[in-house]
Amino acid sequence: MTTLFDRDRASILNTYSRLPIEIQRGEGVYLIDTDGRRYLDFFGGLAVNSLGYGYPSVLQAVLKQINAYMHLSNLFPQLPQIELAERLCARSGFDKVYFANSGAETMEAAFKLVRRWSATRGKNEIIAFSDAFHGRTMAGLSMMDSIKYREGYGPFLEGCRTLPYNDTKALRDAVGTKTAAVVLECIQGEGGVMPLDPAFAAELVALRDHFGFLIIDDEIQTGMGRTGKFLAAEHYDLSPDIVTLAKSLGGGLPLGAVLVRDALADVFGPGGHGSTFGGNPVACAAGIAVIDALETGVMENARLSGAQLHMGLLDLKTQFPMHISDIRGRGCMQGIVCTQPARPVLEHCLRNGFLVNVTRDRVIRLLPPLIITEQNIETALMHLRNAFADWQLPV
Ligand SMILES: Cc1ncc(COP(=O)(O)O)c(C=O)c1O
Repeated sequence: MTTLFDRDRASILNTYSRLPIEIQRGEGVYLIDTDGRRYLDFFGGLAVNSLGYGYPSVLQAVLKQINAYMHLSNLFPQLPQIELAERLCARSGFDKVYFANSGAETMEAAFKLVRRWSATRGKNEIIAFSDAFHGRTMAGLSMMDSIKYREGYGPFLEGCRTLPYNDTKALRDAVGTKTAAVVLECIQGEGGVMPLDPAFAAELVALRDHFGFLIIDDEIQTGMGRTGKFLAAEHYDLSPDIVTLAKSLGGGLPLGAVLVRDALADVFGPGGHGSTFGGNPVACAAGIAVIDALETGVMENARLSGAQLHMGLLDLKTQFPMHISDIRGRGCMQGIVCTQPARPVLEHCLRNGFLVNVTRDRVIRLLPPLIITEQNIETALMHLRNAFADWQLPV
């Protein structure tokens, strides 16, 4: 019999390693496969499904907007876009928003904005960091150094270089009057749930204030309350000039946003940048419902539950010191750093109804929905305990 996986392989370009389960539907913090098995989902659509599945107010907002109109064109002002932009600015302290469809597109927009802004200022260098992930466009890849993502795609865009992350001396030596922008994640997600060092952040801000470059804060994975604050930058004294959001912004629909302050609001000008679908009204209506949910308890839950999860993981580390070397992260973005490639843990969890992700080979990345309960966390820790107990390390 032809399976879903056979048809998938036969018809879709082979750019993803698929997980070996056939999902039928989602329900709250669970995914349910075609055999009716339930999976506690700490994979979270890679940080998209921050309210789990079927969150009533998001569904209602989407249905209401679908009935009004699904698409006009960006040549019309659209209430869902305006309301979402107002809400994003009110929450973040930024002044203006550009809407895109994905994370990579927001980074592309931020890159182009920096290029235009810097062209008249004699600045031409964009600095990024090792192991960062900023999306798969050529601009995104130009701001990354991982061979895995870049191999075969050069030449990359001029004027970009990467420095070691959290290395204050390297940063001090590299920036100057030619620096147009520094781009970073407050917690590198694909890079192994690696948090920004507060001393490094403070030095970056001091250098920005001295040389007048822009700080681009990629909050595509860390933003929208995931770390317990609306932006992860709020855990630091970072005051970025440009913030990019995507992933959970559209409540499961494709949506990205670039936030800027008034000082940068006129860089593009009419026709300077654009997208047919950017800021789709249905996705924006969902985004407003996501922000409503964050503001009525979900973000606070991410903070409290995230702290509980973190404590539980620290406990796990003391139980399995040969397997686990570090626990990193904040809120509902946690990483278990393993001493060996961690695929066996992922597979054990999957077999037992618990979904996690592994990044950089050895880091088990947990991206649960921000609505998880104490009970969900206990269950997750039980699955992890069982998986580590069964994991025979190579001698
Ligand atoms: C920090 C960060 N930036 C950019 C991106 C790219 O976003 P997208 O896959 O929506 O293009 C991702 C996706 O994982 C990300 O985690």
